[in-house]
Amino acid sequence: MNSIIDDCSLASAGAARMHWFRERMPIVAGVNRMFNEQQTFKGKTVAVCMHIEPKTGYWIEGLLAGGAAHVYLVGCLGTTKKDTAAYLASLDNITVLGKEGDSYDDHKRYLRLVMAQPVDLFLDNGASLILAHHELNPGWSPIGANEETRSGKLLIEKNQAEPAYPVIVIDDSPLKQILENAVGVGQSVVDGFMRTTSLLVGGKKVLVVGYGYCGSGVAKKFRGLGATTMVYDINPVHQLKAKSDGHLVGELHELIPDADVIITVTGTFNVITEAHIPLFKDKVILCNSGHYGFEISVEEIKKASRSIEQVKEGIERIAFDAKSIYLLHNASPLNLAGADGNPIEIMDLGLGLQSYSAYRIVTGAETLQPGMQPVPQDIDSRISGLFLASLN
Ligand SMILES: NC(=O)c1ccc[n+]([C@@H]2O[C@H](COP(=O)([O-])OP(=O)(O)OC[C@H]3O[C@@H](n4cnc5c(N)ncnc54)[C@H](O)[C@@H]3O)[C@@H](O)[C@H]2O)c1
Repeated sequence: MNSIIDDCSLASAGAARMHWFRERMPIVAGVNRMFNEQQTFKGKTVAVCMHIEPKTGYWIEGLLAGGAAHVYLVGCLGTTKKDTAAYLASLDNITVLGKEGDSYDDHKRYLRLVMAQPVDLFLDNGASLILAHHELNPGWSPIGANEETRSGKLLIEKNQAEPAYPVIVIDDSPLKQILENAVGVGQSVVDGFMRTTSLLVGGKKVLVVGYGYCGSGVAKKFRGLGATTMVYDINPVHQLKAKSDGHLVGELHELIPDADVIITVTGTFNVITEAHIPLFKDKVILCNSGHYGFEISVEEIKKASRSIEQVKEGIERIAFDAKSIYLLHNASPLNLAGADGNPIEIMDLGLGLQSYSAYRIVTGAETLQPGMQPVPQDIDSRISGLFLASLN
């Protein structure tokens, strides 16, 4: 199957950009070497759904070095880096299905292409592969799967699609929750905001919707740069946590009119909708850092508008009769669409969890239960030790 990417002439630029990342990911480097020595994936077909960017690119090199018969890589929505996609597509034994501007329909089409042949292992993000397999019921099953993120776990539960094969939920690892979600996402989302808008953060009133692991980190980092932070969470316990962490809290309809920037990070859909248009301050900036841009009802908000204009790369002005609002990157995850995603060291840890969990599925699936389960504790301990050593 041929790759579907934006521009294969970007392969050498993509290859050149890999060096900076490879040199700074010692955990993935070590696992990639092990995969290569042991030929862990020899003869196996692996389907991956991940953000296509250099850090995941390096991790995918490990699957190929580990002897995978073929890797099918499907990009996540709105986060594909064209040069990385071109570089990966230039390698042997891989099909890359991901363009920068892919729609949800494109994404679904790629998933159908992947499900057309038996796959041994799913390495999923947002449950795209797991749900496509559930819906299409192709008559074969993988040995097991990893699911990377909170949204994926929530979607599997919501669709009652818990598979009979083992699914290791990387997001249930306390390491991922505490380090990647609470520390890494906050920094990279602020990075994405600054790179996209070129605005000063200090003095802005920033409303963070969703105060879980990611949201608490996002609010903390915005406040660290001088923003006044407001938080809404549907869960009163998380509201209380936000209050005691020093943020302003209230009901969504009370906070929206005051906000200069609204950022969603809930893992659910349609949190900010067209019903909120009358409440928005003129020139409010809307953005999202949850896995799916559907946290903001973009289509409905756009339908209700008078005009839509691209005013800067990644920024659309959506005009109504009495006001305009600005939408960043069509609500794709801001840290990936507007910047390079989570910090390299953090993704070394996160992808290290992915690699060791994949290794466990391939070499010891009989030790795992059917259905969703957290990362085995020994893997958490091992990655903690490696991460600590890499920081010293
Ligand atoms: N951009 C990234 O790099 C990145 C990284 C990790 C996770 N994520 C994504 O970020 C999202 C949040 O992940 P998390 O780990 O913080 O999850 P979490 O479960 O820790 O937090 C989600 C929070 O949102 C709240 N919430 C749910 N529905 C809500 C609603 N309608 N209104 C207000 N609050 C609501 C929940 O009560 C919870 O406090 C998920 O989509 C996850 O996949 C993104």
